[in-house]
Amino acid sequence: MCGIVGFTGARSAAPVLLDGLKKLEYRGYDSAGIAVMDGNEISVSKVSGRIAGLCEKTKDGAAVPGTTGIGHTRWATHGAPTEENAHPHLSNDGRFAIVHNGIIENYAALREELIRDGYHFQSETDTEVIVHLVEMYYAGSVRDALIKTVNRLRGSYALGVICSEEPGKIYAVREASPLIIGVGVGENYFASDVTALVNYTRSVIYLEDGEFAELSEGSIRIFDCTGQEQSKKVSRILWDVQAAEKGGYEHFMLKEIMEQPAAVKATIAPRVSGGKVDFEELAAMSDEELRAVRKIVVTACGSAYYAGCAGRYAFERLCGLPVQLELASELRYSDPLIDDTTLVIVISQSGETADTIAALKEAKARGAKTLAVVNVVGSTVAKLADYTVYTWAGPEIAVATTKGYTTQTATLNMLAIYFAARLGRIEDQSKYVAAMQALPRRIQQAIDLNPSIPALAKKYHDNRALFFIGRNTDYAVALEGALKMKEISYIHAESYAAGELKHGTIALIEEHTPVIALCCNPSVTEKTISNIVEVKSRGAEVLALTFRTNRQMLSVADDLLFIPEVDALFSAVIEIVPLQLLAYYVAKENGCDIDKPKNLAKSVTVE
Ligand code: M6R
Repeated sequence: MCGIVGFTGARSAAPVLLDGLKKLEYRGYDSAGIAVMDGNEISVSKVSGRIAGLCEKTKDGAAVPGTTGIGHTRWATHGAPTEENAHPHLSNDGRFAIVHNGIIENYAALREELIRDGYHFQSETDTEVIVHLVEMYYAGSVRDALIKTVNRLRGSYALGVICSEEPGKIYAVREASPLIIGVGVGENYFASDVTALVNYTRSVIYLEDGEFAELSEGSIRIFDCTGQEQSKKVSRILWDVQAAEKGGYEHFMLKEIMEQPAAVKATIAPRVSGGKVDFEELAAMSDEELRAVRKIVVTACGSAYYAGCAGRYAFERLCGLPVQLELASELRYSDPLIDDTTLVIVISQSGETADTIAALKEAKARGAKTLAVVNVVGSTVAKLADYTVYTWAGPEIAVATTKGYTTQTATLNMLAIYFAARLGRIEDQSKYVAAMQALPRRIQQAIDLNPSIPALAKKYHDNRALFFIGRNTDYAVALEGALKMKEISYIHAESYAAGELKHGTIALIEEHTPVIALCCNPSVTEKTISNIVEVKSRGAEVLALTFRTNRQMLSVADDLLFIPEVDALFSAVIEIVPLQLLAYYVAKENGCDIDKPKNLAKSVTVE
């Protein structure tokens, strides 16, 4: 939620800030602003709405001179998305400008205190208390003022600060919100994530919670929260520039759907060889540790949680361990039955989801072994977990996850095979390994088998509600299929275990109600077909997702989507693909802003 960026160097800052903000826009896109320092003058430009508006207002940055600055793209939490509430916020004396990603939990008390002390507020945001505190504590050193300020804050923050007394300097602070420093030649940067920086530098420093960075064009200094200077490692970004561009596709979402064969291959290939699955990252996990595991708890949010729902079946079947699924936002407040015999698997594309981080901390506090499945290298979840396994999906920009989900499910499948082998439950892994290696090819087939999706979208787009049904592994995929449809097309889509329909939901089925029936698990095909017949006899229009060889379905369903045949245990990776495409084309038919759906942001770093 919210993206921040900072630049200091010899060239004009505003175009670099605007370019960075465009890359971060997926994090929040209801208002935006920049503050640029020219000598000792700070000028602020803000808009309600998209970065495009800010570019127009500033003539692509040309109207804002200065070589040092900070920028922000907002996902509103405190206060409506107005220009007044847009960042940067200025101190009353005009000496400080600040941008913030996160939430200040004790802002109300601080605001009252500051008002009592004579400070005037221009916005309804929680952020504004920070800039007034900095002004209050400033006595000649921005660093000292920041240390005093953050000691007063409770919550999460990635901050960017400039001060008119210190031309050429930008400050950044991190606490429970992502922030990285970009190391350039004769210029330096900070940003919420690497996508904003790859056009400028491949060298980055990952800040830890409680750390401050003081940047000027030729120097980077990092301090801890007591002001002690830290020496930090510079890491290389491996993502290529094109990975964060649309590459000729109309939307990032479509590009990312099409990238799935490559993303899943990149995730699988380093972990399979010689007929075996191996995770180097888990070499330090002893057999004793593994044998002590009595149950697996999978926790995550949104699609990552649904990836866990799909992954569960392979763990239960192959490892013989019970799997409990917990939404991270529920687990954190549920006094969960987790102890040192529990393996907690945390799944997150961004690695920065606030609820997921809290659930992970809760699991650790209860003594569980924790394993993270994460896409973003160096993210908070990756750093906190005992073991981290990366999905190599590359940057995912569209708010609706696609390759994030498929690489997560593929990784969970591989983990199930790997643990089962280490637990001595499978001798010969070769057939599973072959199934894994075939996944990228099968995803491509699932794309190629369905040229009719744009036409089907024309038929199904004009509905207020859609139902997704399936059993067992198909049900798990239905959950994610319905979420995709909801979040980008704004059509109310509900997923049901097909056997549950007659316990209530079937009352909603009437003439022409669209039902999307997933039928890719042979062990329950007959049962799901019965449910299809039931809804059809009440007037439903059924679009079935199945194998080409499922002859029976040809005569039952009104319309068909196909996937190639694949073991049901691993089919989620394939089965979701036509549903992603269907959601995409339905949203397109409905004229929706596909990459930036309303009210959403890519990375939910607030609770
Ligand atoms: O970055 P994470 O995987 O932790 O994000 C979790 C959810 O916020 C995310 O999957 C969300 O549900 C997506 N918008 C779904 O497309």
